[in-house]
Amino acid sequence: MQTFGDEKNKVVTKVFQDVFDRYDLMNDLMSLGIHRIWKRMFINYLNPQKNTKLVDVASGTGDIARLFLKKTNLSGSVCCVDENKDMIKISKKKITNKNNIEWYCNNAEKLPFNDNKFDYYTISFGLRNISNINKALDEAFRVLKPGGRLLCLEFSKVKNGVLNNFYQIYSKSIPKIGKIIVGKSEPYEYLINSIKEFYSQEELIKLLEKSNFKNVSCRNLNAGIVAIHSAWKI
Ligand SMILES: C[S@@+](CC[C@H](N)C(=O)[O-])C[C@H]1O[C@@H](n2cnc3c(N)ncnc32)[C@H](O)[C@@H]1O
Repeated sequence: MQTFGDEKNKVVTKVFQDVFDRYDLMNDLMSLGIHRIWKRMFINYLNPQKNTKLVDVASGTGDIARLFLKKTNLSGSVCCVDENKDMIKISKKKITNKNNIEWYCNNAEKLPFNDNKFDYYTISFGLRNISNINKALDEAFRVLKPGGRLLCLEFSKVKNGVLNNFYQIYSKSIPKIGKIIVGKSEPYEYLINSIKEFYSQEELIKLLEKSNFKNVSCRNLNAGIVAIHSAWKI
């Protein structure tokens, strides 16, 4: 189990404090824009129905919320949860139609909602940053309605040897890009290490099952550079 408690939480808070105003730009540069495609595939895989309720945790600058609202033709509603108020501020600026969306500055390990409230729980590039992942997954299970679905988009383990070698070399350049664009390399060193230390596809399936989720499955994108885990509260 990867929990590093308060120490990890402090590091993560500082990382996003340091990068919030260049977060979107760096995402585009580091992934060569591919994160946008991954996020669209993620929402297409979720396939949200009309008039449904989503909680998007570690919502950052609001990409998943925006795609969800578009996909449900603005009939769905979203609660965005992020522990960083500056990321929330940017999200509020980016999302112009604010009718069906609310923001909460809270930790994923203790969500400010009643049980059985949401049809969907999404977390995109967020789970890796959470100190106590088991607690966050238990919270996800608690706030989902019976029949509700969790979808997680996260960096994972590359399954192709040649691509993995190339990916490892490329990863080493990311702190250097961070230094040029944001003026700091440390947040990006954290990023690379957090990806290395994070669970494999199979390990994350086991964790989801431990939190009582059923029909847990995983879909790799780009040979496992990222993976989408799907899990149901039944
Ligand atoms: C890499 S960003 C991902 C943002 C967005 N979901 C995306 O896909 O672009 C991670 C976000 O998780 C938030 N975060 C980290 N730890 C958290 C926690 N324990 N609870 C809630 N949010 C957290 C950070 O503030 C940051 O906005």
